[in-house]
Amino acid sequence: MSSVLRSAPLTLLAAVLSLAMSARPAASQEPHTDAQAPRTQASAPLKIGIIGTGHIGGALAALWVNAGHEVLMSSRHPQELQALAHSLGPKAHVGTPAEAARFGEVVLISVPYGALPQVGRDLKNELAGKIVLDTGNPYPERDGAMAVEARRKGTGVASAEYLPGVRLVRAFNAINSGDLRSEAHRKGAPIAIPLAGDDHEALQVAEQLVKDAGFAPVVVGPLAKAREFDVGTPVYTRLMTEPQLKAALGLK
Ligand SMILES: NC(=O)c1ccc[n+]([C@@H]2O[C@H](COP(=O)([O-])OP(=O)(O)OC[C@H]3O[C@@H](n4cnc5c(N)ncnc54)[C@H](OP(=O)(O)O)[C@@H]3O)[C@@H](O)[C@H]2O)c1
Repeated sequence: MSSVLRSAPLTLLAAVLSLAMSARPAASQEPHTDAQAPRTQASAPLKIGIIGTGHIGGALAALWVNAGHEVLMSSRHPQELQALAHSLGPKAHVGTPAEAARFGEVVLISVPYGALPQVGRDLKNELAGKIVLDTGNPYPERDGAMAVEARRKGTGVASAEYLPGVRLVRAFNAINSGDLRSEAHRKGAPIAIPLAGDDHEALQVAEQLVKDAGFAPVVVGPLAKAREFDVGTPVYTRLMTEPQLKAALGLK
């Protein structure tokens, strides 16, 4: 791991709170203007690779660029992301999924769940040892039989099997993409984002990135506990504040 990443959690925890308060979502399809540039710079910006720049990945790319991070958005057709990258400004880059995996100190994987096994296989070397945030939700009607199995095991356990060797955190799976855009940095108590992971430092980095995106992180527990905020649970896409989510999950 790079020295930047080793120092990032502590540095960022101290430095980016005011940044998180001032950043706001970018209009992803509009041309870049000064008004869309980050208002402040993170003192220790991270390099974030995004695999799957769709509804969720695209929204988070905008929020993290606005928070001062450097983001490489990827697609199997990278040229299709050029307009979005241009609208987000010089901290937004475009590449292939392999380039995103190499680029990121942190990698967001936000693909249809059925593609996760292939991503894990194809990018095993590039992703090895990286902090990976996984937003995927298994839907049998879209992803086939593997989704039934993933729901049975719980996504934290299933995703870890598909992404061996990464420092996995389940994140941003329990909020709709529209709410991700509209509720980021909202006035009043922020909306809570549940997280689960086995790696303490990976969870710390994920917590900071949730704050940078304009939400409140709630660590639910290890990967095995990710099932508590899977599709169909009482907290899934419910837009709860931190106290409400903690109460619903019986957390202190
Ligand atoms: N939409 C929501 O509100 C929401 C909320 C929570 C969680 N989720 C979950 O988060 C994940 C992403 O959702 P989304 O709505 O953002 O999906 P989406 O809009 O369909 O975007 C997914 C992206 O994944 C990429 N992709 C597909 N197959 C791939 C592969 N084999 N290798 C690499 N990239 C691949 C596609 O990019 P290219 O075709 O450009 O390569 C596509 O842009 C899903 O698992 C979903 O269930 C979605």
